[in-house]
Amino acid sequence: MASTIPLDTLKASTVNSPKMKSVKALAESASLSSVPSIYSFTHNPHDEPIISDDAEDSVPIIDVSLLVSGTPEERSQAVHQLNKACSDWGCFMVINHGVPESLTKAMIESFQEFFNLPEEVKQEFHGNHVMDPIRCGTGFNPSMDKVNLWRDYLKCFTYPEFHSPNKPAGFSEIALEFSKKIREIVTVLLKAISKSLGLEESYIDKATNIESGLQILAANYYPACPEPDRAIGIPSHTDHGLLTLLADNGISGLQILHKEKWINVNLLPSALFVHIADHLEILSNGKCKSIEHRALVNDKATRMSLALPHGPSLDTVIRPAPELVDNESHRPAYVEMTYREFLELQQTGRLRSKFG
Ligand code: OGA
Ligand code: NI
Repeated sequence: MASTIPLDTLKASTVNSPKMKSVKALAESASLSSVPSIYSFTHNPHDEPIISDDAEDSVPIIDVSLLVSGTPEERSQAVHQLNKACSDWGCFMVINHGVPESLTKAMIESFQEFFNLPEEVKQEFHGNHVMDPIRCGTGFNPSMDKVNLWRDYLKCFTYPEFHSPNKPAGFSEIALEFSKKIREIVTVLLKAISKSLGLEESYIDKATNIESGLQILAANYYPACPEPDRAIGIPSHTDHGLLTLLADNGISGLQILHKEKWINVNLLPSALFVHIADHLEILSNGKCKSIEHRALVNDKATRMSLALPHGPSLDTVIRPAPELVDNESHRPAYVEMTYREFLELQQTGRLRSKFG
């Protein structure tokens, strides 16, 4: 465990250099009792909606096994629930989804081992560009005026080509199996969501070229923070892509914005959380809502989450489905562009409004 952190690693000018420490190293520094100013995030009390834990505000639950092998009636009921979840919530949990809990646990443990590697070893996987297939780093967010995020991350492109670090031992094998299983759920969900929009089952698959659609396996590492009210894991945002599937290590921190209230998401142990993301909102011309969410930190335990965004193929132009558009009340509400252009634009900080 690092006992001290050289002061110059905390200077704003060096914070985004390849030599910077991780938040993990910072948090493990024995002398750390407050949040260094570059991490200091002001939670504006006027922007803070009430936290709700009401039962009626609970996130919809979709039973994937019914979509796969239910009776025709069960299937159409599940499709109807999905329709409501996508339009009223922009998110849901999935159960009976076919990913063994033991595999998710093994994936989380393997990421933990990755984050435990010496800082110099992790630096080998430091990428610079949003299109680098393996990228490990810490919380700098260029669109956020020099405030660092209290999280480290590792992101790997796992489809259409599989990439993963070659350390720690066993990581690649687990990541391959886990990402394949998760993609199977997404395949089922996208067909059912197509149907729920009144489109043919394979509509989204075809419109996004999902056969070569991008899948990213990302892990977020949020160390315990001495002053959780003065830092942020990830500020409010929506995800790019069609659907993001998420699991965590049982420590809460994810919140979603629902009817202008922030709601804590406490994942059932065997469930996965599904975010509707920007490209599904675009494709459905706003019928599906991409969910606004954020990650808070706490002073008790390290939180880890696995987030797997699934997007269109990078060079496919994504536009509102013509079937959902007319010249009167359903005009196309989004500009068309490829997924790659969207990601690159997002990096420049010029993609504002909801998708900023
Ligand atoms: C993300 C994200 C939330 C979490 O990685 O985009 O929103 O709970 N993560 O870690
Ligand atoms: Ni997100």
